Amino acid sequence: MKVVDKLEKFYDRNLILVVEGETNYCEYMSESEKELVERLKERNNFTGKKGEVLSLNFIQNDRLISMDILGFGKKEEISDNLFREVIFKYLSDKKGSILISTNTKELVKVEILCEIVGNINYSFDEFKEKKSEKLDVEFFNIELTNLEESLILNEATDVIRNLVDLPANIINPITLAERTVELGKEFGFEVEVLDDNKIQELGMNLLYSVGKASVTKPRLIVMRYFGDRDSKDIMGLVGKGLTYDTGGLCIKPADSMMNMKDDMTGGATVIGAMCAIAKNRLKKNVVAVVPACENAINGNSYRPGDIIKSMNGKYVEIINTDAEGRLALADAITYIVRNEKVSEIIDVATLTGAMMVALGTFTTGVFSNRDEVYSLLEKSCSKYGERIWRMPLDEEFAEDLKSDVADLKHMGARWGGAISAAKFLEIFAEGTPWTHMDIAGTAYNNSSKWYKKGASGVHVRGLYEYCKNR
Ligand code: BES
Ligand code: MN
Ligand code: ZN
Repeated sequence: MKVVDKLEKFYDRNLILVVEGETNYCEYMSESEKELVERLKERNNFTGKKGEVLSLNFIQNDRLISMDILGFGKKEEISDNLFREVIFKYLSDKKGSILISTNTKELVKVEILCEIVGNINYSFDEFKEKKSEKLDVEFFNIELTNLEESLILNEATDVIRNLVDLPANIINPITLAERTVELGKEFGFEVEVLDDNKIQELGMNLLYSVGKASVTKPRLIVMRYFGDRDSKDIMGLVGKGLTYDTGGLCIKPADSMMNMKDDMTGGATVIGAMCAIAKNRLKKNVVAVVPACENAINGNSYRPGDIIKSMNGKYVEIINTDAEGRLALADAITYIVRNEKVSEIIDVATLTGAMMVALGTFTTGVFSNRDEVYSLLEKSCSKYGERIWRMPLDEEFAEDLKSDVADLKHMGARWGGAISAAKFLEIFAEGTPWTHMDIAGTAYNNSSKWYKKGASGVHVRGLYEYCKNR
């Protein structure tokens, strides 16, 4: 992807973006071409409504030129998300080289074009003989502010989408840690991997218990980037890294287990955010932690009824071994607060089916005990078309977590399951500003207005932007 200011080669397609009712098309067209276009527009009743396409094919200097004029509707109704939707729909089924141009420069952000092309060009085809073709897009004289930043965000997002799409026979706690070490070298952040012995030494028994039935034992992946040594502020990111979730002894039905290789998406998201933060050399300090483990089944599995001492010191009664994410996260949150001394935490997790029931698959549910954090996060995510919605943290849900036999149990009553899970996590933040993003619904896409089917990569960009502006 690049911006050009001269027509120096032929493209498979020339795409012109127009606003409804506008006539002049773009700088590189001759007067006679413009006249031709006007006549064809009239003949086809083309006005440039949202998503409307006028396709023209003509011969110029013995070459076949294919030109599409794509409408975006009325100028005053065009928003960033409408722009995403229209351009995504148009480009999704295209191949080859495309030159994009427009005369309504103030409405078209090259960053968004770049983001959408990046979304479309990602493919998971390592295990297919036939690879998918990529779009080769150039922009003609379109105003750009920071194309390089957008390209780095695409790169970071693609890395994590690939980690999510890779199956659990390839990505386990150990290989996830190894890949993160490689990414740290490539993008410029420090990675420390704590193994299962160290995890037990630190008293992270919740994390250890969730993962102990797997042949590949838990790892705590710690990433550090210090871009501002003069500041004491350290942003803390935590991501659920369940490389597979069978449900444990409370095993999931087969249908529900199918996508559970995606249960490390939160972890991948914070790894991706670190890649973007480090490569763009933000002047910020950020530490990210991924508790990586597999919720598997063997004779050593943790059980409903077990009482386990957390790193925090509180004893936790296990109710359902499928509510494993909050256990792994609880110890990771204690670790990042106490051992890394972060000033604020955002955790990201495919935590509850209840979140999907509540909000569906287009919007992430966000819980926060700080209003100003939520509003900045909302602003940061929406810049990249990432939809979030604030959820409540009612005190009654904390009451529900009282246990008859231990300090706490890890699950409440049936209703409001996403909230009781959040409430459980909040305890371990010990008063540090804390925000939790439940991406169970948004991590993976089947259909959406501007995301391709598969791992969405959602919130890599939003978290990057949040850290940048914090
Ligand atoms: N990883 C799942 C949550 C999930 C479900 C993510 C569907 C994506 C799609 C989580 O570990 C889980 O199993 N949660 C249980 C909790 C329940 C046992 C309290 C759930 O939501 O059913
Ligand atoms: Mn589970
Ligand atoms: Zn899970």
